[in-house]
Amino acid sequence: MPSTSLKWHIAVGLGAAGAIGLAYWYLKSSKRQTIGNLSVAIEEPKEETPFQKAQRYKVDGNDLFKRGRYDEAITCYNKAIEMIPAEYKSDLATYYQNRAAAYEQLKKWSSVIADCTKAVELNSRYEKALLRRAKAEEMIKDWVNSLDDITAVCLLQNFQNQSTLLMADRILKELGKQNAAEAVKTRKPVMPSASFIKTYFSSFSADPVYDKLKEANEPLGQGDLKGFLKAKLAFATEKYEEIIPACTEELNLSESESTYKFEALSLRASFYFLIGQFKEALEDFTTIIDSKDADVLIKVNSLIKRSSICMQTEKISECLSDFEKATELGPEVSDVYHHRGQIRLLMDQTDDARKDFSKAVSLNPDFAIAVVQKCYADYRYAMQTKDPGLLVESMQDFRNAIDKFPSYPETYILFAQVKTEKQEYQEAEKLYEKALEIDPNNASIFVHKGLLLLQWKGDISRAVEMMKEAIRVDNKSEFAYETLGTVEVQRGNLVLAIELFNKAINLARSETEMVHLFSLRDAAASQLKIATNLGIGPELLKGVS
Ligand SMILES: *[C@@H]1O[C@H](CO)[C@@H](O)[C@H](O)[C@H]1NC(C)=O
Ligand SMILES: *[C@@H]1O[C@H](CO)[C@@H](O)[C@H](O)[C@H]1NC(C)=O
Ligand SMILES: *[C@@H]1O[C@H](CO)[C@@H](O)[C@H](O)[C@H]1NC(C)=O
Ligand SMILES: *[C@@H]1O[C@H](CO)[C@@H](O)[C@H](O)[C@H]1NC(C)=O
Ligand SMILES: *[C@@H]1O[C@H](CO)[C@@H](O)[C@H](O)[C@H]1NC(C)=O
Repeated sequence: MPSTSLKWHIAVGLGAAGAIGLAYWYLKSSKRQTIGNLSVAIEEPKEETPFQKAQRYKVDGNDLFKRGRYDEAITCYNKAIEMIPAEYKSDLATYYQNRAAAYEQLKKWSSVIADCTKAVELNSRYEKALLRRAKAEEMIKDWVNSLDDITAVCLLQNFQNQSTLLMADRILKELGKQNAAEAVKTRKPVMPSASFIKTYFSSFSADPVYDKLKEANEPLGQGDLKGFLKAKLAFATEKYEEIIPACTEELNLSESESTYKFEALSLRASFYFLIGQFKEALEDFTTIIDSKDADVLIKVNSLIKRSSICMQTEKISECLSDFEKATELGPEVSDVYHHRGQIRLLMDQTDDARKDFSKAVSLNPDFAIAVVQKCYADYRYAMQTKDPGLLVESMQDFRNAIDKFPSYPETYILFAQVKTEKQEYQEAEKLYEKALEIDPNNASIFVHKGLLLLQWKGDISRAVEMMKEAIRVDNKSEFAYETLGTVEVQRGNLVLAIELFNKAINLARSETEMVHLFSLRDAAASQLKIATNLGIGPELLKGVS
């Protein structure tokens, strides 16, 4: 490369007295762009050592490279490589690296990779060669090797170089996509914890199927229950694994025998969704939505649930169009606005989210979830627009919500997050403790509390304790495994972190979540491998022992 050649001139100039003139000559000639025939120049100085000859070929190669004559540059590098005595390892590495640069211009990726590999074999910390190989591997979508190479560059640069870090992120995402696409094919559905399932169903205020599930007037547990009624018993007794087959049984009945067709479809779809079988869930919800006979409220509920699958599979326009249909079909159903508000909040459309939450609350003022989320959206909006009046108001609304719904944990949790943001840590801690009194088996609350301790006191060991506690109360908490894994990465326990990320991956329900988790895992795995290979960063390797 041009800059190396310049450095070489200077080095030679300082080192060997006789070479000063030579360096000067090359410097001059490389500036004379119009010079016609380089081979004449090459013959010029006499009685060169093989090393000097090789260097001259390299300089000529660099010169041709600068002028865009890549094939000729490669010929010069070939000669330089052929000629240089074996003991000049780092110069040979440079030649390979320079030839790789020429191949790169010609988009001959496998030659780039082969030459960079030779360069790296000669000099394992050769940043330029590693970076070039990473880029070529990216071109041929060899994400695994590209990641290892870009990780090596990150490590050599001490993670200080923004553009390298961005490239690493890009590769991680691609590799994550590839791994996730593979993993969903063989993924074993995992039933979430009972508390997760209950939270999911109770996030709807108008779900006629859930209402039926809660009714106690059916003869539960008596005789041989079949179909939906059997599913209902399974739901009541938390035997969630039995629900999908029981619903299928109902759907197998003939038209005249089946009294709960749409209930069975809706319940089965909800459980397909909960265990991450989105395709099957979509089919069932679509059957309900497209049917002429289904009850309006079941349809509206199905539209909201289907839109949430679209959101999780990053089909935003389908998601919004389902909400559109839902508002037409059930303009008075608060769930539509409340769920759309959540999505708008995620999409950073805070003002629209507020409008949705307001509408949801006005339709159904006693539904705690919507009330509390309205407080949170108002707070976000106050911060974004720097509106002190609204800020004060939203804080008061939080307090009112706690008074009105004292046994609803989410109020405390969201308020605690707000307090944490405002660095009112002590109050945040109290709110989390209150939430844990109400819901001692909710892993997320432990995780949040751990994060608070980390941010507030930098207390990593108590934070880790909290997160382990989270896993103890709910060993299916993906959030707990992921967060603990991230903390372990930060304190250098890469082996442990990888294990935690793998657990989170097994629990992930959507491909999007998997992409993210694979990225975290692969970053840790690559750092572990490369740091070991390069013998650097012992602080990164605590987990090995
Ligand atoms: C350079 O000169 C040599 C001999 O002087 C000649 O054989 C060769 O064709 C020339 N090359 C170019 C590109 O002009
Ligand atoms: C940062 O890395 C890029 C390659 O990723 C490199 O081109 C650039 O020179 C580096 N910048 C610094 C300041 O080291
Ligand atoms: C735990 O609480 C959070 C916040 O209230 C809620 O989003 C989550 O669904 C709960 N998790 C479970 C498993 O109940
Ligand atoms: C439903 O019917 C299909 C075929 O008609 C059958 O294979 C399946 O076992 C039945 N499922 C249940 C739960 O009855
Ligand atoms: C969670 O714990 C149960 C037993 O309490 C065990 O059977 C299950 O395999 C554990 N799940 C995970 C993901 O560790």
